[in-house]
Amino acid sequence: MKNNVNRQFRLKSRPVGRIKTTDFDLVEADIPEPAQGEALVRTLYLSLDPTNRIWMSDMDQYMPPVELGAVMRGGGIGVVVKSNSPAYQVGDHVTGLTGWQDYTIAGEKMDNRMGVIPKGLPVPLTAMMGACGMTGLTAYFGLLELGQPKAGETVLVSAAAGAVGSVVGQIAKIKGCRVVGIAGGADKCRYIVEKLGFDAAVDYKRADWKEQLVAATPDGIDVNFENVGGEIMEAVMARMNLFSRMPLCGMISGYNTDQPMRADFSPILMRRIQVRGFIVTDFFAKYAEGARQLAEWVATGKLHHEETIVDGLENAPTAVNRLFDGQNMGKLIVRVADPAQH
Ligand SMILES: NC(=O)c1ccc[n+]([C@@H]2O[C@H](COP(=O)([O-])OP(=O)(O)OC[C@H]3O[C@@H](n4cnc5c(N)ncnc54)[C@H](OP(=O)(O)O)[C@@H]3O)[C@@H](O)[C@H]2O)c1
Repeated sequence: MKNNVNRQFRLKSRPVGRIKTTDFDLVEADIPEPAQGEALVRTLYLSLDPTNRIWMSDMDQYMPPVELGAVMRGGGIGVVVKSNSPAYQVGDHVTGLTGWQDYTIAGEKMDNRMGVIPKGLPVPLTAMMGACGMTGLTAYFGLLELGQPKAGETVLVSAAAGAVGSVVGQIAKIKGCRVVGIAGGADKCRYIVEKLGFDAAVDYKRADWKEQLVAATPDGIDVNFENVGGEIMEAVMARMNLFSRMPLCGMISGYNTDQPMRADFSPILMRRIQVRGFIVTDFFAKYAEGARQLAEWVATGKLHHEETIVDGLENAPTAVNRLFDGQNMGKLIVRVADPAQH
């Protein structure tokens, strides 16, 4: 790999179905020079998220889609290697939208500012993208603010061995709930029960998953943290209790299709289910509070941060499909550069 270029994945075509490497151009651009008030950031880690697939599509969404020809949008962690801004010191670790590239420019305005990660945190740097970062905050605010779980209630979470789901279930356990996770395959189901302390797991890849769901929720479901949508969401909604809550976090089962996702609304009416869609940025004003609590739980061993790391920026377009194939445990991350060498 050359050190004096900025490798960038630029979106060439909008994916149809699964993401393909041919949907991108891999370009070697010049490393940008930071202007006054800016800093040059070397990407260390790239966060791969289901929303990457949404950003590639020209569909109704919460941010503008990535334009064709533009560098693929992506969250990440980098290190400041040059600075012309008092907001950034060389050596600072920063987090924000690094993009799928080796280098980016951090500025001082709302649209290009990056957050400086405090030094000496008692958690690994990569946890700042997972359990203590965006996916952890998604779990924290979606569950606690919208799900309002009470001790003794049953909380169900889908995509339960993933980045968001694994944190949702563990927080619900901390809050004294009975926790049921839905995940694909025996290994993931064993992991969420034995390692993360869930009370029960439902393996949706087995033919009898609907019977497993009924058996795992004898008192119904009080909070459904929805990550998947489709048939799984419908089966879960059929088990939800009167005045239960459903934070609608994601519907990954539909992201690779162009078809609108349909659902039966009658349980919402008959059982007065409170459904609330949200994006983690809705809670921006409270991020510091959430991150502090999550970091304390990780540091004291109450919250386990799991990650799947893939090496090399060049592998980002293939690695992102792991999210759709279920080939990740916890947070899916690409290591772009070795933090020990920067
Ligand atoms: N609202 C927000 O602000 C926000 C923020 C972050 C994430 N999200 C959403 O939260 C959900 C989880 O995201 P994440 O980052 O934590 O990803 P993740 O759970 O770490 O990875 C995705 C997982 O989804 C499962 N999955 C994929 N396709 C599926 C399908 N067709 N049916 C059932 N399960 C499927 C796979 O697990 P199995 O092996 O178990 O199938 C896969 O490992 C996504 O819907 C995402 O869009 C929302």
